[in-house]
Amino acid sequence: MGNYTFTMVKPTAVGNGNAAAILNAITEGGFKIKAMKMLRMSKAEAMVFYAVHKERPFYGELTDFMSEGPIVAAILEKDNAVEDYRKLIGATNPKEAAEGTIRKKFATDIQANAVHGSDSDENATIEGSFFFSAKEIF
Ligand code: RTP
Ligand code: MG
Repeated sequence: MGNYTFTMVKPTAVGNGNAAAILNAITEGGFKIKAMKMLRMSKAEAMVFYAVHKERPFYGELTDFMSEGPIVAAILEKDNAVEDYRKLIGATNPKEAAEGTIRKKFATDIQANAVHGSDSDENATIEGSFFFSAKEIF
């Protein structure tokens, strides 16, 4: 069990003005923000970030969507961070997300589902390193 996970507030949620409310839900959920920035990924960067999904039918759409506007990227700290964060955000499809979860509250649909959360300790490290250098992590 690792103590870190990586998240992004996705472009629709930033565009809708929900980034601050989502960050508040994250800290209320017991996570500490160890690194954070707002940026817009290029299509090429989104394709690298989501390379694990390159065979999936939604890869093109997903990487278009994730590069269409700014995101807020962050590294979060908590005991059992990866699993606990996925509980806090809820199911990928907001229609299936439990009451009280971030996706239930802020997601529009399965693609524009408000936030990303790492799916393993290994990917949390890889994804955090994709966006942050050592001197940007506190
Ligand atoms: P994430 O990586 O963003 O935390 O989401 P997740 O683990 O819950 O879902 P994953 O299977 O990793 O999918 C990554 C993102 O791709 C989009 N997606 N679209 N159209 C579709 O059927 C579909 N399925 C997934 C979502 O934005 C999902 O979060
Ligand atoms: Mg995933």
